[in-house]
Amino acid sequence: MAQFATPISSMDSAAALCLVLILATTIASPAVDAQQTNNVGCITSERDALLSLRAGITSDPRNLFSSWNGQDCCQWSGVRCNNRTGHVVKLDFRNNLFLDDIYRSWYSENPHGMRGNISSSLLALHHLEYLDLSGNYLGGVGVPIPRFFASFQSLVYLNLSCMDFDSKVPPQLGNLSRLLYLDISNIWNPNRYSMHIKDISWLLCLPLLRFLDISGVDLSAIDNWVQAVNMLPNLRALHLRNCELVFPHTPIVHSNLTSLEILDLADSGFHTINPAYWFWDVGTIRYLDLTNNEISEAFPNAMGNMTSLEVLRLGGNNLAGVKLKVLENLCNLRVLTLWSNQINQDISQFMEELPHCAWSKIESLDMSLTNLTGEIPKWINQWTDLSILQLSSNRLEGPVPPELFKLEKLKQLYLDGNYFNGSILEEHLATLVNLEELDLSYNSLHMMISSNWIPPFQLHLAYFPGCKMGSHFPLWLKGQKDIIYLDISDAGIVDNLPDWFWSVCSNVIYLNISFNQISGRLPKTLEFMSSAVIFDLNSNNLTGTLPKLPKQLAELDISRNSLSGPLPQNFGGPLLEDLLLSENSINGTIPIYICEMQLVVLDLAKNFLVGHLPRCSEGTTKLSRSISALVLNENSLSGEFSSFLESCSQLVLLDLAQNNFVGELPTWLADKLPDLSYLLLRHNKFSGSIPVQLTQLGHLQYVDLAYNRISGSIPRTLANLKAMAQETESLGNPLRWTYERPANPDTNDSPKYSDSLAVVMKGQYLDYTGNIIYMVGLDLSCNRLVGEIPDELTSLVGLNNLNVSHNQLSGRIPEKVGLLRLLESLDLSYNEISGEIPPGLSEITALSRLNLSYNNLSGRIPSGNQLQSLIDPESSYIGNNYLCGPPLSRNCWEPDATGGDIDEQQQEAKYFYVGLVAGFVFGLWLVFIIVLFRTCAGSARSGAVPSRWTRLPQGLELQLSRG
Ligand SMILES: *[C@@H]1O[C@H](CO)[C@@H](O)[C@H](O)[C@H]1NC(C)=O
Ligand SMILES: *[C@@H]1O[C@H](CO)[C@@H](O)[C@H](O)[C@H]1NC(C)=O
Ligand SMILES: *[C@@H]1O[C@H](CO)[C@@H](O)[C@H](O)[C@H]1NC(C)=O
Ligand SMILES: *[C@@H]1O[C@H](CO)[C@@H](O)[C@H](O)[C@H]1NC(C)=O
Repeated sequence: MAQFATPISSMDSAAALCLVLILATTIASPAVDAQQTNNVGCITSERDALLSLRAGITSDPRNLFSSWNGQDCCQWSGVRCNNRTGHVVKLDFRNNLFLDDIYRSWYSENPHGMRGNISSSLLALHHLEYLDLSGNYLGGVGVPIPRFFASFQSLVYLNLSCMDFDSKVPPQLGNLSRLLYLDISNIWNPNRYSMHIKDISWLLCLPLLRFLDISGVDLSAIDNWVQAVNMLPNLRALHLRNCELVFPHTPIVHSNLTSLEILDLADSGFHTINPAYWFWDVGTIRYLDLTNNEISEAFPNAMGNMTSLEVLRLGGNNLAGVKLKVLENLCNLRVLTLWSNQINQDISQFMEELPHCAWSKIESLDMSLTNLTGEIPKWINQWTDLSILQLSSNRLEGPVPPELFKLEKLKQLYLDGNYFNGSILEEHLATLVNLEELDLSYNSLHMMISSNWIPPFQLHLAYFPGCKMGSHFPLWLKGQKDIIYLDISDAGIVDNLPDWFWSVCSNVIYLNISFNQISGRLPKTLEFMSSAVIFDLNSNNLTGTLPKLPKQLAELDISRNSLSGPLPQNFGGPLLEDLLLSENSINGTIPIYICEMQLVVLDLAKNFLVGHLPRCSEGTTKLSRSISALVLNENSLSGEFSSFLESCSQLVLLDLAQNNFVGELPTWLADKLPDLSYLLLRHNKFSGSIPVQLTQLGHLQYVDLAYNRISGSIPRTLANLKAMAQETESLGNPLRWTYERPANPDTNDSPKYSDSLAVVMKGQYLDYTGNIIYMVGLDLSCNRLVGEIPDELTSLVGLNNLNVSHNQLSGRIPEKVGLLRLLESLDLSYNEISGEIPPGLSEITALSRLNLSYNNLSGRIPSGNQLQSLIDPESSYIGNNYLCGPPLSRNCWEPDATGGDIDEQQQEAKYFYVGLVAGFVFGLWLVFIIVLFRTCAGSARSGAVPSRWTRLPQGLELQLSRG
């Protein structure tokens, strides 16, 4: 959880950015700064060109165009003219992407980006030297970088990064022979990889280039990129992050890149740091980024010669045990990031090996998730320049040495996910005047801080989940007015939420106070929290009604609290995607307002809601286009199966269980909800028969229609339920979220690096994800079904749970029932099923619950492996007058041997069973309780950080994790 919330402003990236900015401005200044606007006014044709540009922009969230009034276009914002000629020389519409924006854009793209398209009339700006449109969504699927950009012959600076362009990069860019700066990187948008270059020879026409960034553009078709880049002798910064690079087999003999200072080859699938690679003889490199590659070798000796190196980023590789001796001459090293490697060392031993000449210069050390052990050495106080120390998710132990707190420059201290113990006292923290980010989560640390303490720092990030903060609310937070990320979940707080809390948090992006016993009334509105994206308040004692929500909020969880009253008619939060309010006391109806929300998950389970589902207007609404999980179980909702659902084509999970819905199940499910995977309609009053069309739902994996009034027979087309006809493992997860098992079980509780921008699917929803998501089940029990159990059922080999009990089914148990190898629970009880029990039943090795009681089964009970080990085996079979053999005490009669009268024996059996009924009822209860227990146990939160849910494509996550 902590991951995404780590602001990007870490020292190394800041340093790199500075460098880049310096480059950029030195490049740009000779051309532009000398040409301040004067009163020459602007040229009419150019003004018209700008107006056409504006006409193509459909949305301008930053209101850039609001200043575009009057005739003198040189005065318009983003526009600069040459003060002698009046020609437009600079257009700057840059929309800076900071991590916070990226984080928000995760939900709704960058809210500040312009949208629309770029008018080719811009070409009238013949004298343009500087063009920056970065971060504005002026591309789109199928829209490449416009070719006409190649006609701006005077351009020295071109920045088209993060604009959502697609397909081929026009080779015509090679015409821009004066370019010093070219950025067409495409990292932060959903259509990554869609941009590609198949022939890079045009690069040779840009010999003046000093800065080149083509990150995120697919270069996989090119094997000569190294040669091409080597023809750019002026290059100072080269960013080829995530380009699907093909590495050359033979190294470059002679490197031309004698001025290269920044080299970014992150996310490149690199296997080795081979000194033979072309860049190693560049002794000028100051910044080397090899993050997220597959490097597993030790540092090559040649690295020892890279004495200019200041920033070395090797996070997210497979380094195992690093010999740092090689680096002993890297006396300029300021930043070292090695997160997510296997260092497997004692931390003092590791630190001891870092170049001594750099000890007092190192500003940033990120060793998170590297399997470091031992205690932080006291002599860490010699690292006097240390400002960022990230030691998250290791196996460090012991107390945090007071010497660490003497490092006055510390800005970011991440100690989360270790085995530190002892207390953090206010005198420890009192020296850290520069502290901005503090993460002490998930250790065994006590915070011993008195209520009147006033910290000397202003935190931006304060993470204390799992810390023992004391039962009182941490009053020292009161002064922390800059706080952006706050997590005090599971901190043992049993107190009222103080009045000042919401105003102190008015700038938060992420707020988590869940799993405490915090009480207090929610304010009427939280709209003033204009930056808030995630609120997690679940499992507390909060009261009041649902407040009016902040504008940017994407995720809200107030499950398991004591909210009451109806949902307001309009509760704001137009960008909300996940709304989780289960287990409160909310009453009234579901307001029609939600029809216009873009919710993906709506969970209102276990409240007191009444009435129909909202009757959203005909056709699709925002909600129907976005909703993927609709969870409304255990309310008192009523009405027929809502036709509103017909337009919810993204629906994967529908839970209407335990309400008062009536009417027939619709025949349009397969047509309209093709992705439906989980359908839970238990305990309603649905009637009619099971529509044949239901079996056309290829993703349907869990169906619970129990306790309704469904009649007719079980459709023979069941075999069409493809998702049930295969083993779960092969199913993949149909939900949009993917579950990532942590690579290292040791780090279970600190999934920081495995999922970074984790979307936390909590509360009720986690119950599903944890429990049902991998379950394949069919429960038709307690209805009025008649006819046979179709043989086709046995093709649903993925089934874990099959329950058709308490119906009026007849005929035989399908002969091939033994094919259902994964069945854990089979319940056919209380029907009129006859014939013998197929011997194949004993082959179902997974079976732990079997109930065939109260049917008309006959013959010998098959024996065999699993059947022998069932709990209370007798109760599985009672109520079948003609069954015999163990575990029933009734022997199988050999009619010839005894000559006994069958009727007499039946009579006998009857009395025998009457006597057993009491025992059976008890047995049934036992089974019921076991079921209940299983369900509850299975749905318990899987650890306090339910954050293994990611919605990002792989690759992006680790980039985000460390800028
Ligand atoms: C143009 O602007 C530059 C920089 O502000 C200034 O030095 C120069 O004098 C100006 N030239 C004219 C003609 O105004
Ligand atoms: C170095 O760059 C120059 C000029 O761009 C080029 O002519 C030369 O071939 C390059 N050398 C190598 C080894 O690529
Ligand atoms: C390091 O540089 C020195 C002097 O330039 C050179 O002699 C030596 O071979 C280099 N070492 C490696 C391992 O490349
Ligand atoms: C962590 O390091 C220890 C040695 O300190 C090693 O025995 C262990 O296997 C490592 N654990 C992992 C998961 O690599």
